[in-house]
Amino acid sequence: MKHIQIAPSILSADFSAMGQAVETLQQAGADLIHCDVMDGSFVPNITFGHHMVRDIRKHTSLPLDVHLMIERPERHVENFIKAGADIVTVHHEACGASLKDVLRLIRSLGAKCGAVINPDTPLSAVYGVLEEVDMLLVMSVFPGYGGQKFIPHVLEKTREARAIFDRCNPDADVEIDGGVNLQNCGGIVAAGVNILVAGNTVFCSDDMEGTIAALKRGK
Ligand code: DX5
Ligand code: ZN
Repeated sequence: MKHIQIAPSILSADFSAMGQAVETLQQAGADLIHCDVMDGSFVPNITFGHHMVRDIRKHTSLPLDVHLMIERPERHVENFIKAGADIVTVHHEACGASLKDVLRLIRSLGAKCGAVINPDTPLSAVYGVLEEVDMLLVMSVFPGYGGQKFIPHVLEKTREARAIFDRCNPDADVEIDGGVNLQNCGGIVAAGVNILVAGNTVFCSDDMEGTIAALKRGK
């Protein structure tokens, strides 16, 4: 059983004080920093580019888990990795048939690679890459905004993904993203997930350290 890790999403942080935000997250026990990159085209919202990754890199030793919600991510992966990204995840819905090539590009540039699927995308869409990813990110909301409601049926995909990984790629992580909270985290962990992204639940808490610890315990 892989140990449970918490990856707070800085989408919910104060963008005018992002360096302080990641320092606070590290002190509060976060395991990774989840960086939601949005281009206003693949998803309706716009957030930040690789310069944000470059600047927060100076403020934390935690792995930077960069979630690219952008069209044609292959154009940008090198910039994010040079800026300090440790993990780069790209959407099946953005890459299509080139997903395997983009994942291999990320690995060739020295970062860990992950495939992402939206709530309405079947796991079968990424069967062809599960043997060679470091992570599968299963969206439990439709990407674009924090604070949305968790979509429970996606847990069928996390269970199946964990079972496939255990057979063919046991070191790979299953990450979930969107609507994670103290009420659903136990069921999420029981469904094969070992990395939980949480934005609002962490940043709206008046006890960040306690909330991260409770998410890690699964309650
Ligand atoms: C949504 C982002 C998620 C989201 C998580 O597109 O990918 O990372 O910010 O935030 P919460 O936990 O607030 O749903
Ligand atoms: Zn995300």
